[in-house]
Amino acid sequence: MSEEIVIKNQETRKLRVSIKTFGCQMNQYDTEVASGLLQDAGYEILPEGDSGASADIILMNTCSVREHAEDRVYSRLGILAETKKQNPDLVLGLLGCMVEEHREKLFRRFPQLDLMIGTRNLVELPALIGRVRKERRQIARIKQDGISIEYTELIKRRTEHHAWLPIMTGCNKVCTFCIVPITRGSEVSMPARDVYREAARLAGEGVRWITLLGQNVNSYNGAPAGELSSNVSFPKLLDTLCEIEGLFQISFTTSHPHDATPKLFEVIARNPKISRRFHLPLQSGSDAVLKRMKRLHTYEEYAGKIERMRGMIPDVLVTTDIIAGFSGETEESHRETMKALEDLRFDGAYIYKYSVRAGTPAAKLPDDVPLEVKERRNQELLETQKRISDENYRARLGRTVIVFAESVNARNPDELVGRTNFDKKVIFRGSRDQIGAIHRVELTELIHETFKGVALGPSR
Ligand code: SAH
Ligand code: F3S
Repeated sequence: MSEEIVIKNQETRKLRVSIKTFGCQMNQYDTEVASGLLQDAGYEILPEGDSGASADIILMNTCSVREHAEDRVYSRLGILAETKKQNPDLVLGLLGCMVEEHREKLFRRFPQLDLMIGTRNLVELPALIGRVRKERRQIARIKQDGISIEYTELIKRRTEHHAWLPIMTGCNKVCTFCIVPITRGSEVSMPARDVYREAARLAGEGVRWITLLGQNVNSYNGAPAGELSSNVSFPKLLDTLCEIEGLFQISFTTSHPHDATPKLFEVIARNPKISRRFHLPLQSGSDAVLKRMKRLHTYEEYAGKIERMRGMIPDVLVTTDIIAGFSGETEESHRETMKALEDLRFDGAYIYKYSVRAGTPAAKLPDDVPLEVKERRNQELLETQKRISDENYRARLGRTVIVFAESVNARNPDELVGRTNFDKKVIFRGSRDQIGAIHRVELTELIHETFKGVALGPSR
């Protein structure tokens, strides 16, 4: 700690840190932890939207999952090289998956970069910044074992009533297109008792809604909690967390179809606290493509799971991920994916153009779908899905749903913004004192993807 104290005494104002977050919710959580640790060490954290122009330290929490995410970081690093010429004291650092993927190589390519910290080293960040400022040389800390999840009371959450709660990291699946097993390593679960304790602590702080996070959240397999004697599966963990008083809603992301079991559907169905949104990536409607992706299921098996889930949880909202233009995807395979969207009628889909990630198994396969074909297929998928999502949302109009009130509508102080228990935004008349509670709201109107509704009263 001595470095920070020296710095604090030398400076007449607190050093300012800007952190920009790319990628998934896990990164958002890590940014909240990093911000809390740095604030505790005496730094001032600039708000998320701040340009960073007045910052002494600029950090980027990076994502490797698609080329586009990496390109954004590279281009910002280019701009920041110029900024650093004007202000040589500026400290530039990277966190997150690009650090795990490229490691020290990035120091050679970007001499303007001062520090890199691996996903398992986050707690060392304040000390590392202190060292970089003192020694003025490039320093990296990238540990290769252990778990990257840090639970800390110091966390600087951006929302009062909602919290991210990572429960596992890494992935033991081997989807050939995906870099996550390389950047986040093998699956490691937090012990169930730690998860429970952290969820209870958050509830004690006024958090009413948590989102459990993991690259493969439903293959969670944690060490026992309290009186539980055997390892805790994901359905069991969900069941246990539902007992925490004060928690009104529990969401989770992201699931793999392999571990989306009837047992899990059954636990969701009987616990009204568990979110009615299920995100289950399909990736492709073609068995040949699914096989090359090593997704461990056929289209029929996936469709069967969705049917089962909808049968057991009638109001569930199902979203998915699709990759357009994977290696070997023919026009026929693309039509099979289009048909899958029509048949399964997802409520939403994230549709991505395939981008080769170096080091993944698919990097050895030809990237043989030309970019313009990827773009056209991507567009066709997007248009089809948009129509279906819109029809599905309209079908929910007139229903009375469970809504968690999050904030006052910035555009109208007489209105509240909330989230339905199937994770859609809804605006309804209400007052500030109703925030942080659950309401019954009748859905009356759909404007783009946002519902408007009428509150019928508190729910629980
Ligand atoms: N289970 C993970 C999924 C990882 S990435 C999680 O959410 O944490 C999220 C989505 O990005 C994947 O489901 C896939 O649709 C997409 N994706 C992953 N690698 C990709 C690649 N190389 N090109 C295009 N899309 C990709
Ligand atoms: Fe990636 Fe497949 Fe795991 S998409 S995160 S390797 S389940």
